[in-house]
Amino acid sequence: MNLHVPTLIGRKRDGKHLPADEIRALIDGYVSGEVPDYQMSAFAMAVFFKGMNAAETAALTRSMLESGDTFDHPRSHPAVVDKHSTGGIGDKVSLPLAPLVACTGAWVPMVSGRGLGITGGTLDKLESIPGFNVSISLDDAQRQLSKIGVVMMGQTDRFCPADKKLYSLRDVTGTVPSIPLITASIMSKKLAESLDKLVLDVKFGSGAFMKTEKEARQLADAMIAVGKEMNVEVHALLNPMSEPLGRSVGNALEVIESIECLEGGGPDDLRKLVLDLAEKISPASRKDLEALLDDGTARKKFDEIVSAHGADPKDLPNLAEIHEAPLIREYPAPDTGTVVQVDAGMVGQAALQLGAGRSRANDAVNFAVGFDQIVKSGEPIHQGAPLCRVHANDIVDYEMAAALLDKAFKIDP
Ligand code: URA
Repeated sequence: MNLHVPTLIGRKRDGKHLPADEIRALIDGYVSGEVPDYQMSAFAMAVFFKGMNAAETAALTRSMLESGDTFDHPRSHPAVVDKHSTGGIGDKVSLPLAPLVACTGAWVPMVSGRGLGITGGTLDKLESIPGFNVSISLDDAQRQLSKIGVVMMGQTDRFCPADKKLYSLRDVTGTVPSIPLITASIMSKKLAESLDKLVLDVKFGSGAFMKTEKEARQLADAMIAVGKEMNVEVHALLNPMSEPLGRSVGNALEVIESIECLEGGGPDDLRKLVLDLAEKISPASRKDLEALLDDGTARKKFDEIVSAHGADPKDLPNLAEIHEAPLIREYPAPDTGTVVQVDAGMVGQAALQLGAGRSRANDAVNFAVGFDQIVKSGEPIHQGAPLCRVHANDIVDYEMAAALLDKAFKIDP
């Protein structure tokens, strides 16, 4: 198609709806290099201001997902399912959920991302397990899926290349927080897994992308509409991210907590969310899912995943020693009372300061640092008792994190 890009950008700038073939030509041109970054930036900004309707968003998603390779499951395959979270603080749900759902006979081809900003990423958490390889080819992923029913991997260069390129561009052009662009970005990657069912965990609050429930609803609706357009059953749960999920934040610390969950323990809010999401996509009932956590079946499946990705499950019980931060210090409560707030955004900032996350895509993350034993809101506390433990590189980092924790915790007398 002979596309005149300035005209197309101008039409979007003026709030017009674009036909699917023009959106396709734009995305194809961007991936091949014919459409330069400056035109794509202008287009993204026009979408940011003028939005896209459901048909345009679906066309953008389809063009992006078809820009690269997709999973090609054999003709007779079990239900292929996945979960996506829009991200939060202490959100380690993927780690227990993927093995749990795989135990119920469904296939889980989970392609995940890295942490950026204050939110953590599944790949960073998994890589805190020594030797865990998330960079596998689609062919190997497909083989692993038919062997153990689950794969946990990163986006390869050939998987949704349009999203890879466009996301980096959006990141530096102020065009990330646009519902159609976020929808197409997330759904293109998930639908390239060739799914039958997808559950979305759409977060809102201080520790999430979407600050209000209303914005989260809009994003959820846009993603459900794209799923409908593409014949994929999409469920969305809206969940607050005003407080960290569970009691640990930080890469290795979150893997340790995930293993507790897989062994039938761990914090109640984590277990509940894992089950809430798993029951939307699994052929098993909630009761059966609970039993699979409690009887060690899901834990065994996690060992299988760890082995399949080149790591040694024998390291799992020793993660705390493998990644022991140089300084582990309790953060004491300033008053006696009841904890009424643990601000997720502040805790996320503090974790970032410690080195648990990254500010730029190529920053290294520190697997050892973060927080554990976090007291949850509603729980009583005595002055001087720990509100959490801080795992830091040194006292300077501890003090920096503690200054943010001073703002994160609120205690009512
Ligand atoms: N996550 C994504 O993968 N893409 C976005 O645009 C936002 C969050």
